[in-house]
Amino acid sequence: MSLKRHISFFLFALISLFKTKADDNTCENADSFTSISSGFFNTNDYVYPIKIPEQKFFNNIEFPLVLEANHQAPGCSGTCTVDNLNDWISNSAPIIDNLLLRHGAILFRGFPLNSADDFNSFVTASGYDEFPYVGGAAVRRVLAPRVFTTNESPPDFPIPYHHELAQSPKFPYHLFFHCETPAEQGGETPILWSFELHERLKEKIPHFVEKLDQGVHYIRVMPEEDDPSSAIGRGWKSTYLTEEKSIAEMKMRGLNYTWEWKEDGLLVTQSPVLKALRKDIGPGRSGRTAFFNSVIAAYTGWTDSRNDGKLAIKFADGSYLDPTDVKITLELMDELEVAFKWEKGDVILIDNRQVMHSRKPFVGKRVITASMATHESR
Ligand SMILES: [Fe+2]
Repeated sequence: MSLKRHISFFLFALISLFKTKADDNTCENADSFTSISSGFFNTNDYVYPIKIPEQKFFNNIEFPLVLEANHQAPGCSGTCTVDNLNDWISNSAPIIDNLLLRHGAILFRGFPLNSADDFNSFVTASGYDEFPYVGGAAVRRVLAPRVFTTNESPPDFPIPYHHELAQSPKFPYHLFFHCETPAEQGGETPILWSFELHERLKEKIPHFVEKLDQGVHYIRVMPEEDDPSSAIGRGWKSTYLTEEKSIAEMKMRGLNYTWEWKEDGLLVTQSPVLKALRKDIGPGRSGRTAFFNSVIAAYTGWTDSRNDGKLAIKFADGSYLDPTDVKITLELMDELEVAFKWEKGDVILIDNRQVMHSRKPFVGKRVITASMATHESR
């Protein structure tokens, strides 16, 4: 860790020490709202923390942190440009890292990011390295070098909570979502703090957490070509970026998957036993445990003409999920979720090690795009 980042961590800890308490799991009223992270900002900065009605508080920390563009900042002359804000984010890496570590997710609001190219420039300016999308279940299209469509499954189909690529040995540490066009109704990208979910599950259904701790297999049947009518319709050719079965096999072998080819080019894959809980350790990390898996997403969402979600997850001992445990987990997810209403230009940065995301059904045109970043540089 650089000296600059050490100093930044120290200042952050000092500021946090003197901040006052807000009510657990509730928002203060707008008049008295003071972000616990507001000590990072002053009125001349390009952004400042604001309150939104959907925010929740956990252990006195607002979730997510919301930073609004400050168009009155001296450098903006009344309206901040994409370049102003890109300069700010590229010079604020240690602050962003610290805030993200503390809050789990940061929503940037009021930014003039209107297109995939604008979003691409913001993601690039953030300094996080690109994470190539390989191995996921969703069908996606590339819109700009680091920007692609979110899961293009049908609008009336909710996408359940998951950590991105939790079922893959390599997963992105950071996710960005951008709102180019909010839906007429619905279409939120709800988030929840996975550490909180894990703790609540441990209290309520400890036997389920103990089984998860042994790990799970993910089982999926893939078509040959992409099938956009399904939320898990990504074909094996685009999943493994090849037309050749032998190359797909080589890649699966590299990931310790087992597989079986079926008629009509279908491919059944089974992952090795993968961890379903993840302790967030490392320099500066909290040491808390996340419900880091796609177990509920698979059970409730991996059903199409080829797959049955109830058979998509197998515990390490060969047993399948108990529907009652799934029901309790879904209820807790509902309780913990923050489903903020998208505004045009919004970007949310999510720490994929701490926070799960999902998608609500929607009506009307909705353009929410995504970018993933790796952890190799930060
Ligand atoms: Fe996702």
